Amino acid sequence: MLILAVLASGSGSNFQSIIDNIESGYLDARVAVLITDNPGAGAIKRAKKHNIDHIVVKPKDFKDRPSYNSHIAKELKKRGIELVVLAGFMRIVDKLLINQYPNRIMNIHPALLPSFPGAHAQKQAVDYGVKISGCTVHFIDQGIDTGPIIVQAAVPAYHDDDEESLGKRILKQEHRIYPYAIKLYSEGRISIEGRNVIITGEREDSPLQNPPH
Ligand code: GAR
Repeated sequence: MLILAVLASGSGSNFQSIIDNIESGYLDARVAVLITDNPGAGAIKRAKKHNIDHIVVKPKDFKDRPSYNSHIAKELKKRGIELVVLAGFMRIVDKLLINQYPNRIMNIHPALLPSFPGAHAQKQAVDYGVKISGCTVHFIDQGIDTGPIIVQAAVPAYHDDDEESLGKRILKQEHRIYPYAIKLYSEGRISIEGRNVIITGEREDSPLQNPPH
């Protein structure tokens, strides 16, 4: 069973989809802790409801980013975390944490990377006028949303979309592909060659070829 930590800053719907996929038996994993930087995060309510340990780690309680990240790293180590899952965590993860968990930190981003990295990706896509957008699960490296891509899913973008309507359509796909990416990891089906993520049996069960589970 894979031991996860989920880091989230907001509502936590991706966190919920991970919980649901564990409870349904799709994922052989356990969320050992939710870590948030936001005492008002909806994700905390979800953790409480599902008896998942949670901690609030506020950046303003630390003197700088490295000490903040090293505190998080300690909390992860203490719990024997095997995979760190960023699910709407709106903080930059620094090299200290990345070096402790090389290719063991995943992130989900609400755009088809390398398009529209950084904040407000859905708005960036609407403002640009793209006709297709989507979401990306990738490993974290030291850039902003630049790490090796694991899974992506596309959605249409329409001329009358706004950030919210496009964001909702994207979020539905996020809830499909994040559990799938974690499952691939837990089954040992992922290896990395340079930027290229090699997935054993990718053609057989890609969520792009199969209806949602
Ligand atoms: C999701 O759309 C996620 O892709 C995005 O925040 C939202 C969190 O929603 N993440 C980023 O923009 C990271 N740069 P949730 O709290 O309902 O899971």
